[in-house]
Amino acid sequence: MEKDQLPLLGTDYVEFYVGNAKQSAHYYQAAFGFELVAYKGLETGSKELCSYVLQQGKIRLVLTTALVENHPVADHVKKHGDGVKTLALWVDDAIYSYNTAMSRGAKSAFEPQTLTDEFGEVKIAGIYTYGETVHTFVERKNYKGTFMPGYKAKKSLIEVKPVGLLYVDHCVGNVDWGQMNEWVEYYQKVMGFNLLITFDDNDISTEYTALMSKVVSNGNGYVKFPINEPAEGKKKSQIEEYIDFYGGSGVQHIAIATDNIIKTVDQLRNNGIDFLYVPEIYYVDVLDRVGPIEENIEELKRLNILIDNDEDGYLLQIFTKPVQDRPTVFYEIIQRKGAKSFGKGNFKALFESIEREQELRGTL
Ligand code: FE2
Repeated sequence: MEKDQLPLLGTDYVEFYVGNAKQSAHYYQAAFGFELVAYKGLETGSKELCSYVLQQGKIRLVLTTALVENHPVADHVKKHGDGVKTLALWVDDAIYSYNTAMSRGAKSAFEPQTLTDEFGEVKIAGIYTYGETVHTFVERKNYKGTFMPGYKAKKSLIEVKPVGLLYVDHCVGNVDWGQMNEWVEYYQKVMGFNLLITFDDNDISTEYTALMSKVVSNGNGYVKFPINEPAEGKKKSQIEEYIDFYGGSGVQHIAIATDNIIKTVDQLRNNGIDFLYVPEIYYVDVLDRVGPIEENIEELKRLNILIDNDEDGYLLQIFTKPVQDRPTVFYEIIQRKGAKSFGKGNFKALFESIEREQELRGTL
């Protein structure tokens, strides 16, 4: 195999630009079980931006809001609503990563910067991907602080109960009509990713809506980005609905791994997280399709967890409803029992579920 030209150690953090970071931070602590670990804002000398850093397992979320009117973060929220701005990638050498990507045709978001404080230094540099979304390369091998210079450690004020979220499994982008191949090629050419899987509208279509999807992955497989684009259907697809409400291409969902999905989803439901619903009939023949599983099917049915398989094993998954009022970003909770795929066998049941939601929103 060819040498990995742009080695990535994993996802470093996911940053959302939001309208009210204080309240979003409470939601992620109380409902998703993330611990507050760091903060920047007026009290730390940050006069224009306020950010909360939350952690659970290896997942780090940053929630950022603007404190002033004329700021790119305020403009972003005005246009897109709450949404993902940055998918940060953990690297050993940020400058090398940035220069490599730039020499292969990336568009710069910001040039390399070295941030320092008493705990050491963090190097960052950013490139654009689809829409206004950015990949920030983060080099933190010479840093011992909580998150990054500029932030102060800060603890949750409530008693946080982690729900077993472990790491980011994959992050999915929705891109506008006809742009999927362009962005797949971008990841291949600029980032050295490999094309893993292709789904066309025959795989992913219901009576009404259709989409196409390709999955790209980096050399070691730690970073996987499925890219969706809308396809022609009888009615408006969920990807089109997203593009309309987000105001362009952007991150559709973040899939988070757990090693006990029954426990995780039980807790999330108790905390008030709202999930997509598949009808009971889904469970009648699901085991005929996927074969034997270790979990109690009645438990999976009670929690509405979906099951799929591939040649390597099976997986369990469930999708939340959008986590803000615009029907844009949502989460997937996934437990892999060998399977390396993304739940193709569930697409039809899921899309029919999303269409029921679109019907209620009047956007089908
Ligand atoms: Fe997914």
